[in-house]
Amino acid sequence: MTGLPPALPAGGNDMCPPKLGDIAPDFTARTTQGSLTFSDLRGSWVLLFSHPADFTPVCTSEFIAFARHADAFAEIGCELVGLSIDSLPSHLAWLEAIRSCFGINIPFPVIEDPSMVIARAYGMLDENAESSATIRGVYVVDTDGVIRAINWYPASIGRSIEELLRVVKALQTVDRDGVMTPEGWQPGGDVVLTGPVTQDEVTSAGPAWFFQYKQAKKK
Ligand code: BEZ
Repeated sequence: MTGLPPALPAGGNDMCPPKLGDIAPDFTARTTQGSLTFSDLRGSWVLLFSHPADFTPVCTSEFIAFARHADAFAEIGCELVGLSIDSLPSHLAWLEAIRSCFGINIPFPVIEDPSMVIARAYGMLDENAESSATIRGVYVVDTDGVIRAINWYPASIGRSIEELLRVVKALQTVDRDGVMTPEGWQPGGDVVLTGPVTQDEVTSAGPAWFFQYKQAKKK
């Protein structure tokens, strides 16, 4: 016993995928923008997302939306990183096809993971699926490399990129102001307070002591 708190698990394998509060599994991989070591992104927020397959309609719609929102993610200090089990040549061909067909440049790196090592570490493979394609996984990682939000969608349903942006902004607000965000919260909207912890606080807060709104702080 050292008396020190236990180190955060660097967690993650296909038997035991990482959970909220775990350190995001580290890796080095080839991407459409060169080699990437995930831990080098510490100091930035990161939205790591997997997609089932290149050259598919739902994934193409998501990539176009990610590209359109890329400046908004950059403004809040959040890096976008895509991943699928497809090869780098496939990723490069798909991004080039998106550019030539739709005039949209994909400005973030897309990781190749043909060995599925990264997908396994993050639990991005669906055991019940007929193929080894990754699910639509999203991992929001904070500036210390801690996983703060996880979201999984099936291959058949495209994600809302606006919603993912909202989640990162909500996490940043929670960290900055020590508050919580209510249902459907939008940046600048009222936040909620963590509940009172003493009888005096309950009494002075009034009958709705368990549900108190507060005006958002001006940035
Ligand atoms: C898609 O459209 O993104 C998709 C379609 C079938 C399987 C996987 C992905």
